[in-house]
Amino acid sequence: MQIEATQGELFGHTVDVAVLPVFSGIKRLSGVIQLADKALDEILSGAIESGQFEGKEGERFTVTTLGLLKAKRVVLLGLGSKDGASVDTLRKFGGLLVRVARETKASSMVVAMPLVSDVPSRAAGQAIAEGLELGSYRFHTFKGTQHKKEKPLRELKRVSLFVEDAKTLKLVTEGIARGKSFAEATILARDLVNTPSADMTPMHMAEVAKSLVTRGSGIHCKVLDQKAMERMGMGAALAVARGSMHAPVGIHLSYRPAKAKKRIAIVGKAVTFDSGGLSIKPSDGMMTMKIDMAGAAAVIGLFKLLPVLKPNVEVEGIFLAVENMPSGSAYRPGDVVTAMDGTTIEVLNTDAEGRVTLADALTYAKKQEPDMIIDLATLTGACIVALGEDVAAVLGNNESLTQKLIVSGKETGEPLWALPLYEPYTQFIRSKIADIKNIGGGHGGGVITAALFLKTFVGDTPWAHLDIAGPSYTEKETRPEQPYGASGYGVRLLANFLSNM
Ligand code: BES
Ligand code: MN
Ligand code: ZN
Repeated sequence: MQIEATQGELFGHTVDVAVLPVFSGIKRLSGVIQLADKALDEILSGAIESGQFEGKEGERFTVTTLGLLKAKRVVLLGLGSKDGASVDTLRKFGGLLVRVARETKASSMVVAMPLVSDVPSRAAGQAIAEGLELGSYRFHTFKGTQHKKEKPLRELKRVSLFVEDAKTLKLVTEGIARGKSFAEATILARDLVNTPSADMTPMHMAEVAKSLVTRGSGIHCKVLDQKAMERMGMGAALAVARGSMHAPVGIHLSYRPAKAKKRIAIVGKAVTFDSGGLSIKPSDGMMTMKIDMAGAAAVIGLFKLLPVLKPNVEVEGIFLAVENMPSGSAYRPGDVVTAMDGTTIEVLNTDAEGRVTLADALTYAKKQEPDMIIDLATLTGACIVALGEDVAAVLGNNESLTQKLIVSGKETGEPLWALPLYEPYTQFIRSKIADIKNIGGGHGGGVITAALFLKTFVGDTPWAHLDIAGPSYTEKETRPEQPYGASGYGVRLLANFLSNM
C-alpha cells in the first residue's frame, strides 16, 4: 500500500473516497467539511445537526457525490470523544480506513489527517500507517488456488493523508515510514504464527531466523541442533521434544551495536504445536495450538525491525523450538527431568510444557550475562480466564521494568496488565521428590505459579515475563487493526521499549 502525507486541496484530485474524521459532540465543522458540505447541498451538516451522525468511534456516514466533488464518495468517520483520544485512537482510525475502503470498494483514498492533542505528528503518522497496514492484513497463503479461482479483492492501494503545513508534512512522512516497518515486522510474526504446525516445524523456525542475517543487518544467528542441546545439558527442553518426530532446535539471534550501554535478552516460547503430550488436550483445546510459538515469533519480528530501528542496545533473541506430542518416546507424567542449571523438575502434567522448555531457554539467556531478561510466552489458559483475549499479563522481579513495559504497550496498542509474582504460592510448585514440579495443582492462580516456576531460572537478573496466551490470537475482531488470526503481539511493544531505552 502506498501511504503518503500531502499538503494542499483535499478535493483537488479524482479519488474513490474522501474520508473526513469527526470527533463526537463537535460544535463547529472543520474547513474541509464545510467545503464538502457546501458542494453537497449541506447534507453533511444536516446529518450532524439532526443527530443522524454523532461521531461515535467507528461510526460512518457515506455520501455518493454524483460528480459534485472529484471524490466519488465522501465518508464522515467517527473518532469518538476528543477527551479520551490518544495515539491508539489514531491506530484504530487507520484500521477503520480499511473497513471504509472495503465497504465502498475503494482502492484510492484521501484523508483529512485528524489532530489529537498530546500526540506529536510523527507518532500520529506512524499510528495511522500501522492501522492501515495491519488492518488490511489477511493470511492468504492457502486461499484461491488454481482449483478455486477467487476474484482478487479490490484492495486499498493508495492513501493520501492531508496535513496543514510543511513542518507537519515532514514529521508525518517520517512517521509513516516508521509505521510501515513496524507493521511489516508485526506481519512477519503474524505469518509465522498463522502458518500451520505441519509447515512451521522447529527446523523451519531456525531457517526463518537464519534468513534475517543479511549483509549490513548487524544480526548474527547461532543454531543449536539436538546434539548441541544435549552437550549443553538442556534436559528439560529435550524432554518436551522427545515425543515428536521433529528434532528440537535452539536459536540464538544477536544484535550488537558498537557502543551499546546495555544488553538485553529476549526469550520466546517456541512450541510449534502443543497437543498437550501424553496429558493430551481435548480436541477443542488443540484447535489453535499452532499459536504456541507466538513468543518466538515476536522475537523474530523484533529482529526484523532492529536493523531499521538501530537501538543503542545489545539484543539477544533466544528460543528453543520444540513440538509437544504424545508418542512411545514422549516424556511422561511422573518423569523427573534435569534442566541445564541442574534443577530437577518433576513433570506432573506434560501439557505444562512451556515452562519446562523456558527453564533451559532462560538459563541459556542468563549465561549471556544480560542486564535484563524479558520473556514472552503463550503460557497459560488461566491468563485468558483472568484477562481475556486482548490483554497480556506481566509479572517479574523488577517494578521499574514492569512499568516501562506497561507504558510501552499503552503506546503501541498492545495492552499489558501487571499480576503479582506472589511468593507464598511457591509452596504449590514444591515437589516431594525433585527440586520443583511443573504444575501448581488445583490451587488457582495459574498465571502466577507458572511465573514463579520461571523465576527459579532467572535468579537476580531483572526480569519480566509476559503471558501472551490471550492477545496472540484474535477470534473476535474487537480492534480494526487486528483482523482474525495471529496478532503479532509483542513486536511493536518490544521495539518501542528498546527505542525508549
Ligand atoms: N500453550 C498452553 C497455554 C494456552 C492455552 C495458550 C490456550 C493459548 C491458548 C500451555 O502449554 C498449556 O497447555 N497450559 C496449561 C497448563 C496447565 C496444564 C497447568 C493450561 O493452561 O491449561
Ligand atoms: Mn501445553
Ligand atoms: Zn503450550
